[in-house]
Amino acid sequence: MAHYEITGGNRLEGVVTISGAKNAALAIIPAAILAGESCLLENLPTIEDVHILEKILRKMGAEVDFTPDGTMRVDAHGIHDHSVTFDMVSSLRASYYLLGALLGRYGHAQVALPGGCAIGQRPIDQHIKGLRALGADIQIEGGIIHANAKRLTGAEIYLDVVSVGATINIMLAAVGAEGQTVIANAAKEPHVVDVANFLNMMGANVKGAGTDVIRIQGGRKLRGCTYAIIPDQIEAGTFMIAAAATGGDVVINNVIPPHLEAISAKLMESGVRVTEGDDGREFFLRVTADVRPRAVNIKTLPYPGFPTDLQQPMMALLSAAEGSSFIVENIFEERFNHVPELQRMGAEIHVNGRTAFIQGRPKLSAASLYASDLRAGAALIVAALMAEGTSRVHNIHFIDRGYEFFEQKLRAIGANIKRVED
Ligand code: UD1
Repeated sequence: MAHYEITGGNRLEGVVTISGAKNAALAIIPAAILAGESCLLENLPTIEDVHILEKILRKMGAEVDFTPDGTMRVDAHGIHDHSVTFDMVSSLRASYYLLGALLGRYGHAQVALPGGCAIGQRPIDQHIKGLRALGADIQIEGGIIHANAKRLTGAEIYLDVVSVGATINIMLAAVGAEGQTVIANAAKEPHVVDVANFLNMMGANVKGAGTDVIRIQGGRKLRGCTYAIIPDQIEAGTFMIAAAATGGDVVINNVIPPHLEAISAKLMESGVRVTEGDDGREFFLRVTADVRPRAVNIKTLPYPGFPTDLQQPMMALLSAAEGSSFIVENIFEERFNHVPELQRMGAEIHVNGRTAFIQGRPKLSAASLYASDLRAGAALIVAALMAEGTSRVHNIHFIDRGYEFFEQKLRAIGANIKRVED
């Protein structure tokens, strides 16, 4: 176990380069199972969740070669084991994508119910409803989802809630189904589009990803391909917030600015300058905060609304903003586990149901802090970077799951942060 030691007060300045998107990677790696041939995936983040998937695929019989430059070759040809046990997925929410991919390719799968961040109930009823509509028999016994289909057939599926996971999972199975599948009320997140682009690159026919109706003509034979994953919208947003929170001036390289519109808009509303640029190779955003950010109100929503994954880091910023804000968390009912930790730093936050009221304080003070989940960890780091004194952030295994070289990247732009082995 290790923890971070962070001495706050430094203004973040310089250039940071964003890694490949975690949530796209966690769907695209399992999606490679659908090709009968070798796929080369580029721009993957080297984070714990990707290493877990790497191990799972190998155990199933796939050949996987993951190099430190973030390139992974996946050859699913030799997969012989179609079961994924709980010890393999206990900390990995996205393990459910193995269900859709194995079902789409082999017509059966046994996958343990997913683990991941404890931020609410996180049901998977919409995944199951969709896979059943495609003709799969799904039974849950002893914490394992058993899925079997003699033949998958395209279907019209209306999602009762906008779910990223269900949209992608149904897409994965539907490319293996005969005929057309229509997913209505689909999620529009950038990684949904990225998965669809990857499937199309393998020879699938997926149309409409990025809108709320996705049409998939299934049953095509998929081939291997080379595919580069999009930059991580949430990592970029975290650095934007950290820059703004520390009164910094940071250029954030390798981003897709439209993916960050909701966060850019909120930061600008709070008085922070956000400018867009293109250096000829990639797009960048520059975040400059000359004055203390003003309070702003936030409601989390499915994309293109304000992402729930940035609600926690944004709350850290608002704890020291000028004035009072509220945040309504509309996606996950228990995503306020970071609040008691921020309160121990002097933050004035009152939670009532899904709404948090925040009275900005001129300064937060350092404390010993415990991350309860991945983005709570990011929030505590943002808070510690602003606080007076030296904070310790524990449970950083959560942060290792989702941020590549986090402390190195922060140090390179002036943060006083070090990883200390306990
Ligand atoms: C994904 C992301 C996560 C992000 C979230 C919302 C990955 C690995 N994780 O999680 O970082 O915070 O999207 O952008 O990509 N729901 C149901 N039934 C279902 C599925 C979902 O009721 O079958 C509900 C959930 O409880 C939640 C809402 O729908 O209230 C959205 O969840 P969903 O979009 O599915 O989130 P995940 O895919 O789990």
